[in-house]
Amino acid sequence: MSINSKNFKNFSKLENILIIGNGGRENSLAWAIQKNELVKKVFLIPGNAGSERINKCERIKIDIKNKNELAEKLDFLKVDLIVIGPEIPLADGLADFLRKKEFKVFGPGKDGAKLEYSKSWAKEFMRDANIPTSKFWKVNSLEEAKKIIHSTSIPLVVKADGLASGKGVFIPDSKEECFRATESIFNGQFGNSGNVVVLEEKINGPEVSVFALCDGKNYILLPTAQDHKRLHEKDKGPNTGGMGAYSPAPLLTKRYLERIIKEIIEPTINELNKKNIDYKGVIYFGLMITESGPKVIEYNCRFGDPECQTIMPLMDQSFLFLLEKCSMGNLTGNEKINTSNKVSGCVIATSKGYPHEYKTGFPIKIGKIDYSDCQIFDSGTSLSKDGELLTNGGRVLSIVCQDKDFDMVFEKAYKNLKEISFDGIYFRNDIGHQVRKNYKEN
Ligand code: AMP
Ligand code: GLY
Repeated sequence: MSINSKNFKNFSKLENILIIGNGGRENSLAWAIQKNELVKKVFLIPGNAGSERINKCERIKIDIKNKNELAEKLDFLKVDLIVIGPEIPLADGLADFLRKKEFKVFGPGKDGAKLEYSKSWAKEFMRDANIPTSKFWKVNSLEEAKKIIHSTSIPLVVKADGLASGKGVFIPDSKEECFRATESIFNGQFGNSGNVVVLEEKINGPEVSVFALCDGKNYILLPTAQDHKRLHEKDKGPNTGGMGAYSPAPLLTKRYLERIIKEIIEPTINELNKKNIDYKGVIYFGLMITESGPKVIEYNCRFGDPECQTIMPLMDQSFLFLLEKCSMGNLTGNEKINTSNKVSGCVIATSKGYPHEYKTGFPIKIGKIDYSDCQIFDSGTSLSKDGELLTNGGRVLSIVCQDKDFDMVFEKAYKNLKEISFDGIYFRNDIGHQVRKNYKEN
């Protein structure tokens, strides 16, 4: 069924929507949601300085850890649907709590969020369901790790089991480095998230991100995307949260995507059902396309950032209905996502020093931007007392453009980016190099 304004009456009241989170991802969700003509207000808790530049958006100041106070406030605001952006509140059971209070929530409960907050659990989950992934060892002590590191001939990747803001993965070049990384995790580099370490076989190939909106039983896929994790051009430098993305990813042909659905996506949803996990939210499949086929690198229980900023402008107003259907468990799986026939690309501007230490509080100047098919989603910004826009994070903002092809997309994005400046601004010039026919390496 295609959802369009003719059958709006089939949907419940969707006037007030709440989004939890403070990044570019949440701003792009707000931007896509406010397009729906039923929506009167989009509240963001806490949002950032860019949130209120988005039509219908309002920031709410409240600590989400005070769950009862939060529920009272949401009753008062007559919130019709809640979308939880980041993994931490999901891992903390916020979706379960709000569902018990009879709110409609898009976001998995604590049981589903375990796909992200315990890497060893996710690996065991994949093993149980025969889902292709790299070999792994769950280790509880340095001694145990030492034996595996010394007796294994294949290169290994070292991961803290729990949440570590994307920083808990090490890709060592030698057994010595592998040992040191394991040691630093066990020594508390990531607190309790490092009580268990996962050693994994290192695999190779391009990475793609696939997102399934899931209502517990059925699912639909969003356009695919490719992220750029490394800080520097030519995919060099440390891993970051993501320096840019493009969507869709042409690497995933229709046929290959069918293989991914059969080998990975459906077995994941079936296994969730088998484990009695009623997953109402997005499942982010971080995949590597290896010589022997697609393999899962990781699951996340949320949208990717910056993939979300890249995909959202391809959605029309029915996107909100899909979120609602997921929250209510009545997705058919046959809904059409009315995607645009354009492609989309996103470049992230960061603070100097990111992903390590960086300074904040620098004024951001935004010059003459051509906003046709172009959005700026703030990631880490704040406002000074005088209302001046300031840097307030490692990833500061994303610039996202859409057009007929990726050359046009990135030409527009980089042209607009020239109009943005702040002290220490940094970005990669080669985002989308894989799909830009005119791209020339420096
Ligand atoms: P994760 O947080 O698990 O997605 O890992 C962060 C990044 O580390 C991934 O996007 C990959 O680039 C890399 N990575 C993680 N696991 C592996 C692996 N088993 N083999 C090769 N690279 C990996
Ligand atoms: N873009 C990678 C992530 O959101 O984890």
